Formats: sequence, C-alpha cells, structure tokens
Amino acid sequence: MKKRVLSGMRPTGRLHLGNYLGAAKGMLALQDDPDYETLFTVVDIHATTTPYDAKTLQQSARDVFIDYLSIGLDPEKSAINIQSDLADVITQLSFYVSSVMTVARMQHLPTFKDKVKQHPDNVTMALLNYPLLMAADILIYKASKVPVGIDQEPHLEVAREVARKMNEQFGMDFPEPTRFATKGEYVPSLLGEGKMSKSVEGSSIELNDDLDTIVAKLKKAPTDAGTGAAVPTSGGVANLFQFVELFQGEAKRREYEAAYTGSGVRYGDLKKELAQAIFDELRPIQKKRAELEANPDYVDRIIKEGADRSRVIAEATVAEVREKMGLRK
Ligand code: TYM
Repeated sequence: MKKRVLSGMRPTGRLHLGNYLGAAKGMLALQDDPDYETLFTVVDIHATTTPYDAKTLQQSARDVFIDYLSIGLDPEKSAINIQSDLADVITQLSFYVSSVMTVARMQHLPTFKDKVKQHPDNVTMALLNYPLLMAADILIYKASKVPVGIDQEPHLEVAREVARKMNEQFGMDFPEPTRFATKGEYVPSLLGEGKMSKSVEGSSIELNDDLDTIVAKLKKAPTDAGTGAAVPTSGGVANLFQFVELFQGEAKRREYEAAYTGSGVRYGDLKKELAQAIFDELRPIQKKRAELEANPDYVDRIIKEGADRSRVIAEATVAEVREKMGLRK
C-alpha cells in the first residue's frame, strides 16, 4: 500500500515565502512521487484557536485553497480539503486522542508557550488542544509523512506520541508520522532576526506581491559595508545570501561570498537581481490564481470533491477508533 502524506496551513493571512519554501515545495515533491498518496488541508479550525475575525474566515480559507491550486497542488493527484468540511470527524478524533495525553505535556510545548506570550489574554482550552487537533488531522488519514517547516517539529513529536499511545493502549495501527524537510525548512525574516512569519510586520514576501513590492521590501532588509574577513553566519547579510541560494542557486551564493571577502558586495545590485528572481518564480503562480478566481464554480466543485474523497478515509479511521475504544457504533 502507498504511504500517505498530509499537510496543512492555517488561513491566518496570505501565504508567504516561508510557507512556500518550507511546506508547499515538499507538498509538491511528494504529490509527484508515485510511492505516496497525498492529502492536503486548509486548517480553518486551527485558525479559531487564536483571536480571529469570524466574518472573513471563510473567505480566507478559500483564498488559501486557491493558493494551493495556484502553487500546483493538483486535484487529480491529491485530495485537497478545507478542514471544517470534515469538522465532525476531525474534532471527534481530536477529543478521543486527548485521553492519552496529559495536560502537563501540552503546557510544556514551546509552541504553546510562544502563543501564550503573543496572546496572554487568550490562553484557552482550544489553544492547549491545538497540537491534538493537528495530530488528529494527520492520524485520521494514517499519514506517515508530513511536509512542514522545522517550526512544526514539536507538534509532530506530539503526533508521534499520540500514535504510539493509541497503538499501545487501544491496538490501533497508526504510523508514527515524520517530517519531510525541504531546503527552505527555515526561511528567515527579511528583518534580519527570527523567521519569516505572518504575525511579524515587514518580515515576509507574500505569494501575491508584485515586483515593486518585493523590491521595496528587500530594500529595507538590513546589510553592512559589504566586505569583511569572514562571511557572516547570522543576521541580515547571512539571510540575504540564503535567499540568493534559494532563488538563484548555490553557485550565485558562492560568488557573493567570494566578493564579500574580496572586492566587496554591492547590495543594491544584489537586491535588484534577487527581487527579479523571486518575482520570476511567483509570476506563474499569480497568473494561475487570476485564472482560478475567474472560475469560482470550478473552485467550489474542487473543494466539495476534496472533502468527499478525504471523508471516506477519515470516517473509516474514526469508526475503527470508536470500536477499539469501546464506544457504540
Ligand atoms: P502555519 O499555517 O503556521 O504554516 C504553514 C506551513 O508553513 C511553514 N512555515 C515555514 N517554513 C519555513 N520557514 C518559515 N519561516 C515558515 N513559516 C511557516 C510551517 O512550518 C507550515 O508547514 N500547525 C500548522 C498547521 C497544521 C498542520 C496540520 C500542518 C495544522 N494541522 C497537519 C501539517 C499537518 C501551522 O500552524 O502551520
């Protein structure tokens, strides 16, 4: 039997290069690998675990779904759904698996602690349960590979623990899911510190940014005098070199590194070329997006079909868990 793949993104804003390089590229690689059966989801229920706008959530989820298709996720090859179309089965499983995890374990997760710092007035049960909802997303399809950025590793650790305990205590056969990593598993912020993130203003380039916007954003990225005894390994310049590698290749990066310890790097030129290279990669995605937006009936149909295909697998897993846990049919 083919191994299953599951990945998802929260509709908390438009997708950026971190989502694209850290997750979407891996999703695309596995979609084209005949050894895997791929399922992808837009996790709108996860978006309700931090403050959000109920009026715009449906549109945001649809936007991310369209982004998925624009990037190249293919409904002929993958089952692609919006999580709340499967809310009954996913939230049901997430409750069942919460019986094998302790409160202390969930409270100690670094991702939970970060969110508590970000939203101190919103330390809800939903937030504490977030990783169990994510474990349910993965386990409901018995997926074993999860293409996500490195920031999701603590959540995958929880999913593995849940799988192990459900197998030991109830005789389930969940695979212990592992991360599928890409070259861009940690995409840095444009600001020189930390990772690219939706919640940090000015840190990201979005998939729908035009060339002028990308140029303007890169202009603000911090640099230095352009020359020194050793190439920086952290901070703004190191990050710029990383973007060069990701969009223009390793050889180009080595050229700039040699210039840094030699004749000097002209950041104005570097940024202009880099902006163009990034835009060249985004342009076909933006074109595809415009086509899809002009065809809402097609998008509606694909959303429905994705949910129906996913549901067949999800319902079978939930039925099995209920039986093994001694619940009524
Ligand atoms: P989310 O919505 O924050 O991010 C979506 C994906 O983008 C990756 N990512 C990055 N990768 C590299 N560098 C960055 N700067 C960067 N920023 C974001 C994330 O690692 C992620 O892969 N908990 C998940 C959503 C989720 C999920 C799932 C994922 C819910 N259920 C089941 C996989 C499987 C999240 O918040 O991702």
